[in-house]
Amino acid sequence: MRTQVAIIGAGPAGLLLAHLLHRGGVDAVVIETRSQEYVAARIRAGILESSSVDLLESVGLGERLRAEGHEHRGIYLQLPGERHHLDFVDLAGRSVWVYGQTEVQKDLVAAGTAQVFYEASQVELHSLQDRPYVTFTDSSGAAQRLDADVIAGCDGSFGPSRAAATPGERYERVYPYSWLGILADVAPSTDELIYAWHPGGFALHSMRSETVSRLYLQVPNGTDPADWPDDRIWAELATRLGHGQDGWKLTPGPVTDKSVLPMRSYVQTPMRRGRLFLAGDAAHIVPPTGAKGLNLAVADVALLSRALVALLIDGDARLADSYSDDALRRVWRCTHFSWWMTTMLHASGDPFDAQLQLSQLRWVTSSEAGATGLAENYAGLPIGF
Ligand code: APR
Ligand code: PHB
Repeated sequence: MRTQVAIIGAGPAGLLLAHLLHRGGVDAVVIETRSQEYVAARIRAGILESSSVDLLESVGLGERLRAEGHEHRGIYLQLPGERHHLDFVDLAGRSVWVYGQTEVQKDLVAAGTAQVFYEASQVELHSLQDRPYVTFTDSSGAAQRLDADVIAGCDGSFGPSRAAATPGERYERVYPYSWLGILADVAPSTDELIYAWHPGGFALHSMRSETVSRLYLQVPNGTDPADWPDDRIWAELATRLGHGQDGWKLTPGPVTDKSVLPMRSYVQTPMRRGRLFLAGDAAHIVPPTGAKGLNLAVADVALLSRALVALLIDGDARLADSYSDDALRRVWRCTHFSWWMTTMLHASGDPFDAQLQLSQLRWVTSSEAGATGLAENYAGLPIGF
């Protein structure tokens, strides 16, 4: 087979890139190891920045998002005995949208613009400097070879593209705590997300819809979810989120999913080797505290699709040549913001750290300059920043 762009991975980065290339008149084929059902059901992020919403809308993917998603003006920051609202619209002129990554994924599949080989195995990248091609075994067991002008590595942190793109620099920070996340069939107890600092550990109240809540607790690395029966989780969430404070109540409900997520920052540079370009989690991982993972993937493929259309339709290599530097500017901004939110909100066990965190949180919740910095980064900078 032959195509212009061979895309490895059918997560949000890979499918959105295929959609954007299709609109730009460039052919692409996507190769994915998992089944379509598995990819669609994976529980992931839930917050879209305004620039991600604008981009999805501008390419015909905004209809269900606008109808079923929920626009939030800001977030709450919770400290023991205090809750503060940060209004991003007042502070930075931008809002965010609650719309699950699973929903974005469904909209991309429904658009039908990507030709995808699901359930591929033995996916290998070859000849990256010159005439690249990908070999794999398709779902029927047949050996396939896909020749392309360019390969886009959108295969997340465990795919083969990241390794194929080295040598380069790798930057990493592993955090000494994880998140225990639950999905619950209960109406959210809050209208906007609550990020809570607590001496016993961070907690977050997020949501997916009017009837589904998503909540997280900071737990030690290596935590076994089996040690956290539902009652223990709800009791700890109630304590950390401020149940009873000023009459606020956390309503528990049936837990439908429970998992532990490690927290890591990772950036690999450059985001290109020869004719292989990396996008999304294949090139970088952020801890979830700043809600940036999905938005960074969207921003990467917005730049990459533009660069590949210029390269493959107009023969102009300038944007392709600057892609890695252009994308990394935003990657490092989001990497810093996610690290900053993470270290400001999680208990480290060190009393000096705790005092610095409280001082920082007081500044962010009482100074317009402090609040605006958080708002501008959380609600997201324009694509191309
Ligand atoms: N061959 C083909 N596909 C592969 C391979 C492989 N060898 N290995 C992994 N994949 C697929 C995965 O099954 C997955 O569907 O690549 C896809 C990568 O998708 P994501 O992990 O969702 O990454 P990305 O599309 O970059 O999206 C970033 O995902 O992890 C979240 O927080 C992150 O929300 C952000 C978003
Ligand atoms: C989520 O809803 O899963 C979510 C929201 C905000 C975050 C992280 C995760 O910062």
